[in-house]
Amino acid sequence: MATSSATIAAVVKAVREDRLWQRHMDLANIGATGRGGVNRQALTPEDAEARLRVLAWAATRGFSPSVDAIGNVFIRRPGTDPTASPVVAGSHLDTQPTGGNFDGVYGVLAAFEVLEAASDAGVTTDRPLEAVVWTNEEGARFQPTTMGSAVFAGALPLETALATTDTAGVSVAQALAETMQRLAIPQRRAFRCPMAVYLEAHIEQGPLLETTHHTIGIVSGIQGLRWFRVEVTGEEAHAGTTPRRIRKDAFVAAVRMVTALQELLYDSADTVRFTVGRFEVTPNSPNTVPGRVLFTIDLRHPQAEVLSRLGDQIEALCRAQAHDCSVVVTETLSSPPVEFDPAIRAWLTQSAARQALAHMDIVSGATHDAKYMADLYPSGMLFVPCRGGISHNEAEYAAPADLAAGTRILAEVMLTLAHH
Ligand code: GLV
Ligand code: MN
Ligand code: MN
Repeated sequence: MATSSATIAAVVKAVREDRLWQRHMDLANIGATGRGGVNRQALTPEDAEARLRVLAWAATRGFSPSVDAIGNVFIRRPGTDPTASPVVAGSHLDTQPTGGNFDGVYGVLAAFEVLEAASDAGVTTDRPLEAVVWTNEEGARFQPTTMGSAVFAGALPLETALATTDTAGVSVAQALAETMQRLAIPQRRAFRCPMAVYLEAHIEQGPLLETTHHTIGIVSGIQGLRWFRVEVTGEEAHAGTTPRRIRKDAFVAAVRMVTALQELLYDSADTVRFTVGRFEVTPNSPNTVPGRVLFTIDLRHPQAEVLSRLGDQIEALCRAQAHDCSVVVTETLSSPPVEFDPAIRAWLTQSAARQALAHMDIVSGATHDAKYMADLYPSGMLFVPCRGGISHNEAEYAAPADLAAGTRILAEVMLTLAHH
């Protein structure tokens, strides 16, 4: 059957809530923490295992995988026109250290469910349909976040990404080589290869849809994000013998900096997002004055000019608070706010209306791989609610019916746009 409104409806109908949920539960076992969440950080054996599981499902359906030089995996269901660029959707399988079972996983499994539903409905498309698994979206083990899509899009040089190390000194190059050996995908994919469209389904990771009783969020854009790494150097000294006046305490200096940053970035409207998520004290011994502190800053705002103005003050502020210590501030990521294609947003909105699902426009507070695709291809995202708005937390939960509802929207739009 070729694509028509009847065949699109057949694919939407073939989306299976039970299968989609079971696949989430299968992946939840890989890297399970024992407290309901997962620790499946990028390019670990657990990340490789999750990718292998999806590849095994793909193999049983006859879908073909390919991989690029940063380990992004593309799973293709062919179309009838071998020259046509694919309709692509996906997200990521890596997680935070205390991650949940839906962040990223949903976008990959929703895309995969669309490919399966198309096969179950016996529908052929002009364009290929693809599900993509981006490498290291989370940025928890290797910084920055959205590494795989940034390299794919040319926003981050491959060599820079490969040379990045984790806290144990393992490089992306080493961890990627081990992962690639396990995946053993012979077919290679070029960066920035053509796509007809890129779509990403995701849990909202915030409370808006749930509290306003909407099933679908049509994402208008993603707020801007800047990451900094702050290294404060003092001098190690004996805790019992060294008077305060001659100490160069890197911890005390870093605390001064964080306190001053909190004041600088205080926003009574509560729109600015400021997080110090990593704070490492060296040598981390109770009776040695700390000689070195490394901390990270995650700063976000929906308006580019506010983000620029605030972020540009960080280095000077840290210097002013360093006193007898020295400080090096490095910006590791600068990602301006992104707006998604109005035509794609309209397709998603029409589909939600046609399927009689309560929907609203929403700005993404979290960042996503779709932001880099938006520079290259017509792109868009849809959100489904997550309980209590809780995410980056083992308690993260999304209802099976909502996951399936979002997948049906994805199916309708992917199938519509897979037709010439
Ligand atoms: C992605 O996980 C983000 O930090 O927004
Ligand atoms: Mn995510
Ligand atoms: Mn995340």
